[in-house]
Amino acid sequence: MQAYVRLEPQSDVVELTDLPKPSPGEGQALVEMHAFGVGIHDRYFIPPTGPFPYVIGIEGAGVVAELGGGVDNVGVGDRVIVSTNMRPEGGTWGECAVVPAGGLSPMPDAMDFATAAGVTVAGKSAVESIHSLALTEGETLFVAGASGAIGTLVVQMAAGRGVRVIGSASQPNHEYLLSLGAEAAVDYRSEGWREDVLAWAAGGVDAALAIQPGTGASSQKVVRDGGRVITVSGDQEPTERGISVVPFVHRSDTGGEMEALIDDIAEGRIRLVLEGIYPFADAIKALEGCETRSARGKRVVTLPIAE
Ligand SMILES: NC(=O)c1ccc[n+]([C@@H]2O[C@H](COP(=O)([O-])OP(=O)(O)OC[C@H]3O[C@@H](n4cnc5c(N)ncnc54)[C@H](OP(=O)(O)O)[C@@H]3O)[C@@H](O)[C@H]2O)c1
Repeated sequence: MQAYVRLEPQSDVVELTDLPKPSPGEGQALVEMHAFGVGIHDRYFIPPTGPFPYVIGIEGAGVVAELGGGVDNVGVGDRVIVSTNMRPEGGTWGECAVVPAGGLSPMPDAMDFATAAGVTVAGKSAVESIHSLALTEGETLFVAGASGAIGTLVVQMAAGRGVRVIGSASQPNHEYLLSLGAEAAVDYRSEGWREDVLAWAAGGVDAALAIQPGTGASSQKVVRDGGRVITVSGDQEPTERGISVVPFVHRSDTGGEMEALIDDIAEGRIRLVLEGIYPFADAIKALEGCETRSARGKRVVTLPIAE
């Protein structure tokens, strides 16, 4: 099978190569991949000890082709959302992937492969961030990096709960943020954007989600005394004015909320916006695009089988 791999831990070069088709072991399924999601993490999220060549990628969607023993949550022929997590079996950027049963969930009938491929990483990050921020109706939220993959979902989910959202992005993305349900938008490249947020929420917003690296400190400046900040990229910031600043951590208690988000997307209540759907041959171009941190929404790659 064809797959995109890292050949060694020392070099971050990703290349297309031919590998033998894998077989599922106990508790695993072989999935024929139809699409996979692309994120800035894909070049780096590999186990340090391999094995190499290591197939990159941690999310995707496909059809179950074969089962190992002891798998009872999916059957051959099922359309599945795939989540892998730097396991020795490798990731999702190939024509096939071996996936532990726990990394498979059913794709709603109304969802296409491209959408299903892009839902896991941004969706989980959005769900877990919103849960940890414990936002309540009528509160105000500032989202730094609101037009990207995670922000696109966070803005819609928060606004849908009656939270008043103000997002940051460059000016050409402001109409987009408003279309997602943000009440206001600021341009992080402009001198006065912090004052603009403080003019919108006197005394500061109740909470902030700092998605892009380096936005933790400036997000804290627009939060009210005693408010809360989560830094999705993990920025650690000294805190001021009684504000809690916490790096994002994965949660294990949000499975039900993730299922609800997948249903909301399948039924069209929330939009998973795809900035681009790339052919398999252009996967590296898609990855390099993500690395510019300029995507509006999510990038995904589809395989010829999905066409
Ligand atoms: N901790 C975890 O487990 C975890 C999980 C997932 C993701 N992450 C982190 O989350 C980040 C990626 O999030 P994502 O996929 O949503 O990003 P993304 O899709 O790459 O976001 C791109 C968007 O962010 C905007 N942007 C870029 N720099 C900005 C800045 N300084 N201030 C405000 N907006 C800015 C861009 O808007 P303009 O084009 O208008 O500038 C663009 O629309 C990464 O840093 C990753 O490490 C962490």
